[in-house]
Amino acid sequence: MKKYILGILIVTMLYACTKTNSQMIIQSPDGKIEVKLDLKNNSLPTYSVTYEGDTVIKPSSMGFEFLDQPEMSGFRIVDTRMKSVNKKWTMPWGEQEEVVNHYQEMLISLQEIKKPKRSMNIRFRVFDDGIGFRYEFPEQPGRNTLKINEEHTEFRLTGDHRVWWIPGDWDIYEHLYNETSFSEIDALQFAQHESLAQTYIPYNAVNTPVTMRTASGLHLSFHEAALTDFPGMTLRVDTENLTMRSELVGSERTEYKAQVSLPFETPWRTIQIAPDAADLIASKMILNLNEPNKLGDVSYVKPMKYAGIWWEMHLDKSTWDLASGRHGATTENTKRYIDFAAENNLGGILVEGWNTGWEKWIGVDDREGIFDFVTPYPDYDINEVVRYAKSKGVEIIMHHETSAAVTTYEQQLDTAYRFMESLGLHAVKTGYVGTIIPKGEYHHGQYMVKHYRKVLETAAQHRVAVNAHEPIKATGIRRTYPNAISREGLRGQEFNAWSSDGGNPPSHLPTVAFTRMLAGPIDFTPGAFNLKLEPYKPNNQVSTTLAQQLALYVVIYSPVQMACDLPEHYEGQPAFQFIRDVGVDWQQTEVLNGEVGDYVTIARKEKETGNWFLGSITDEHAREFALPLNFLDKDVTYEATLYKDAPDAHWDDNPEAINIEKHTLKATDTLNVQLAPGGGLAVSFMKK
Ligand code: NOJ
Ligand code: CA
Repeated sequence: MKKYILGILIVTMLYACTKTNSQMIIQSPDGKIEVKLDLKNNSLPTYSVTYEGDTVIKPSSMGFEFLDQPEMSGFRIVDTRMKSVNKKWTMPWGEQEEVVNHYQEMLISLQEIKKPKRSMNIRFRVFDDGIGFRYEFPEQPGRNTLKINEEHTEFRLTGDHRVWWIPGDWDIYEHLYNETSFSEIDALQFAQHESLAQTYIPYNAVNTPVTMRTASGLHLSFHEAALTDFPGMTLRVDTENLTMRSELVGSERTEYKAQVSLPFETPWRTIQIAPDAADLIASKMILNLNEPNKLGDVSYVKPMKYAGIWWEMHLDKSTWDLASGRHGATTENTKRYIDFAAENNLGGILVEGWNTGWEKWIGVDDREGIFDFVTPYPDYDINEVVRYAKSKGVEIIMHHETSAAVTTYEQQLDTAYRFMESLGLHAVKTGYVGTIIPKGEYHHGQYMVKHYRKVLETAAQHRVAVNAHEPIKATGIRRTYPNAISREGLRGQEFNAWSSDGGNPPSHLPTVAFTRMLAGPIDFTPGAFNLKLEPYKPNNQVSTTLAQQLALYVVIYSPVQMACDLPEHYEGQPAFQFIRDVGVDWQQTEVLNGEVGDYVTIARKEKETGNWFLGSITDEHAREFALPLNFLDKDVTYEATLYKDAPDAHWDDNPEAINIEKHTLKATDTLNVQLAPGGGLAVSFMKK
């Protein structure tokens, strides 16, 4: 029997790197995923993908279009290299401590047959949970840069899959997810978006990660990894031929979309493949496709819970600017928040509206020079605030709203970060509201990808962690730059305070968990307790139950988690204990169940304490299921506190109805979970 298995193993290993005429094949370590590169009649390369023998991606073309260069013509294979990698690495902070990086690699070196005989290599990495490939341009005689007009990577689908998508907006990701069949994708209907400060959707295209389910129940998610010195990729949709094609984000200032110096590697084009939706969340492939930590010691990057002078501006209780007479960021108010944080196990306080310039930060064309990131308003004594915070063991989180005036910010970068360093501050939230200055650039083009990286690098020099709002999409860069601690890049909680469309519907977060969250940490800012926003915003509300707001601390991953509501709204609330207790840095994560757009349950084990926390959330439908607790450590007894939707809880009719129960529980027990419409469950399992 053993010999037989060994025989199969050898045959499989040989098969894993079979070369036929012009076909190269590689398989995942478990043999389930197979990728084939084809060069028919010495033409342009195509690739195809199968999962357990069934086609997932039909033969799809690959290639580029350059400025001032002839079209790419037929290629031949010059060299092929195969490699197997199976390594572990440790995350300084993250969803889990240890990550396994296990893949088979195939590097194919190609050269055009006819002049100008350009070289292009394609590197595939095939994991058990998906594939990544990238193009590599080696140094070429007589050429040291490339001007790229377009990348022509196709993804030919095998059917009219169910798709969860946002439009391929070049300027903002803050859209609601749509669930349609592939053939019904219509991104252009969102081209005129009312509630956004900027938006640009030139084509029927989607942004990534875009997640799909095939008729046979297989889940696919398309994205990119290690986006560096290149435009973000949207995927143009051909609804008739069930095909997506890369459409790089462009610029009005250049004839081309990217200019790169040789040698150059594109970001990885990635396809996650999972039979169960839950496995999409568990995958670490995007991170594995990034380079290891470049920064070395990042002990200054501190996972933490934080509160802030923030929600009060979104509720219009106070303002960012001074002129209104209701300025939020005063010394006195900040001290009130510092006391609140110190009393409630929150590590930091974000202070927005602390610096001069907010009188005209939005809705004006000339935003250059309004913010300088070092000049506080006269009623904000920054030295005193920082001193007071330190005396209470609380960190002040700096805020840099750039109002998308990137030229100003770049001029100020060194000064701004040196100022933070002089104050001993190690965290900043950045923001890019508005159209980009210089005019003609978009948030997701190459110019901005470089800018966001420059900010990370400058911040690292001054030992600062960055939480970017209106960011470039997450592509796993946090592995290389662990000071990229979190980011927005979705419709966050703030939309519930002011969006004219009524805010985020209950299906939003159960969709985000399987789409945006596959890219990386999200600064969603959960923790609203006053869900009807009274008396501030009678026409808006948060469309979840209170128990779901708690569950989000576990479900929506971020190493920095805000307790967004006003301190007075937490007063006398027993449910606030969950926020005091919940961890932010994890040794282990288990995704226990879920369906895209419907519901999801995640348990995470805190690194420091070994305590477990569980969150479960649902869309507008109530749900009931039995949940075995076999993820808990064996032979440990836990004191579990359950924060449950009350039997009559409902996201709209009765959102704040919550029951809190204590039980002694073990790994051998099973929980009966009942989620209200728009509801959730949060559980802390503290070791006895
Ligand atoms: C948009 C950010 O997402 C939000 O959190 C912030 O309060 C405003 N910009 C002002 O900077
Ligand atoms: Ca935002």
